[in-house]
Amino acid sequence: MSDKIIIFDTTLRDGEQSPGASMNTSEKLQIALQLERLGVDVMEAGFAAASNGDFDAVNQIAKQASNIVVCSLARATQRDIKAAGEALSPAKHKRIHTFIATSPIHMEYKLKMSPDEVVKRAVEAVEYAKTFCDDVEFSCEDAGRSDINFLKEICEAVIQAGAKTINLPDTVGYRMPTELGAMIAQMVKFINGRAVVSVHNHNDLGLAVANSLSAVLAGARQVECTINGIGERAGNAALEEVVMAIKTRKDIFGGLHTDIITKEIYPTSRLIASITGIEPQPNKAIVGKNAFSHESGIHQDGVLKHKETYEIISAQSIGLETNSLVLGKHSGRHAFKDKLISLGFDLDSDALNTAFEKFKDLADKKKEIFDDDIRALVSDEIIKIPQAYELVALLQSSGGSLASASMSIKHEGEIISDSALGNGTADAIFKVIDRISGISGVLKDYKVSAVSQGKDALAKVDVKVEFEGKNAVMGHGLDIDTMSASAKAYLGALNSYVKMKHL
Ligand code: KIV
Ligand code: ZN
Repeated sequence: MSDKIIIFDTTLRDGEQSPGASMNTSEKLQIALQLERLGVDVMEAGFAAASNGDFDAVNQIAKQASNIVVCSLARATQRDIKAAGEALSPAKHKRIHTFIATSPIHMEYKLKMSPDEVVKRAVEAVEYAKTFCDDVEFSCEDAGRSDINFLKEICEAVIQAGAKTINLPDTVGYRMPTELGAMIAQMVKFINGRAVVSVHNHNDLGLAVANSLSAVLAGARQVECTINGIGERAGNAALEEVVMAIKTRKDIFGGLHTDIITKEIYPTSRLIASITGIEPQPNKAIVGKNAFSHESGIHQDGVLKHKETYEIISAQSIGLETNSLVLGKHSGRHAFKDKLISLGFDLDSDALNTAFEKFKDLADKKKEIFDDDIRALVSDEIIKIPQAYELVALLQSSGGSLASASMSIKHEGEIISDSALGNGTADAIFKVIDRISGISGVLKDYKVSAVSQGKDALAKVDVKVEFEGKNAVMGHGLDIDTMSASAKAYLGALNSYVKMKHL
């Protein structure tokens, strides 16, 4: 059995199923490129049949990814598998991941199918998927609550049909580590090297990572996980925790290893947090704000004397530099480029020029510029989707229910200006944008955070807006001024919506 643990990242699929985490294609593309840098083996780029937007995202990622296996999820239906196969067609390395539920409760109430019908459907799905690519993964949804003999029967049938990976998800996060380990050990023995055994654990009881590690010790050789543990409900197993546990506890995991470039963990975590607006909790293992902070005097004293007294992994090993003061007004293009490379950004010369101009603008307004400022600024620049509506000027005044905003917005080459009163300045700004665009939005969420420290910190605004009663879209805005950042965030959401509408 191989010593390599295959890391299957599903941030762009199961992670996107986190409430409020929907992303547009350019955001997904940016994440996909970072996941490649991180060294994941398989990236689940989406669920191609879910919508035109999802199909487009899988297809764009398939075109641009080079060394990584790009995967699309598909229910066990011809329609889903065809969409996955077509979206993945440009990929150098592709995988179709098809699934059907196997637990009694899912088969009876959700699928309304008998176990024999489920086996038949699973075999047909794998056979059809094989007409698009050789690398086919089959998942027994809710394996955690399935009968082990039925799991053996269906897995035997899909392996005969050509499935190369068998995934056994604990879909509802129900199992304890010892139970899950025992189930995986039985399935590994039964499958006996004819397919890779994979696990996919949800975190409803806070055990997704523990269950994944227990499965690895029992012989699973693929772990499905997400950055920051985002995902449906309580989320999925966190990639960074699984990887760092295997790396740190070599005494337990023996020769087992992953190919993850751990220095890319922190930059990847920041990118996901800034795109989804979902910040990891401060005490989150590995990537939380406090994961490397020592508050008590006894701990601080110990760490100063000898780091390992209270630190089992180093901040540097996950790419967490101290949020050091980096560049200033007088820094040149060369220093800026070096900084970007050290932060994991590889920009072409046009993007570099634009980012450098933005940096200079910021340096004029803000005395001290930190790594997080640069990350936010560059991500904002790279991720930008076509600006159907672009902010040209904003004038605002506060004053409770008499707050007002006047704005000029560029649309199709024309500058349109208008003003509105609102219940607070942000309300007035959003009203003007609705009036100018003629598309009315309902604000579902609004969050302001400071990108780094200092009174003059850059403000980052994340909004979630429902336009014309359709699914809510996210928008992000970055500016020294919070109200300008709010306007940019709302316009960002509007631009995403307009782009999706035209897909
Ligand atoms: O949790 C789950 O069962 C899933 C499958 C579709 C793999 O996400
Ligand atoms: Zn899942």
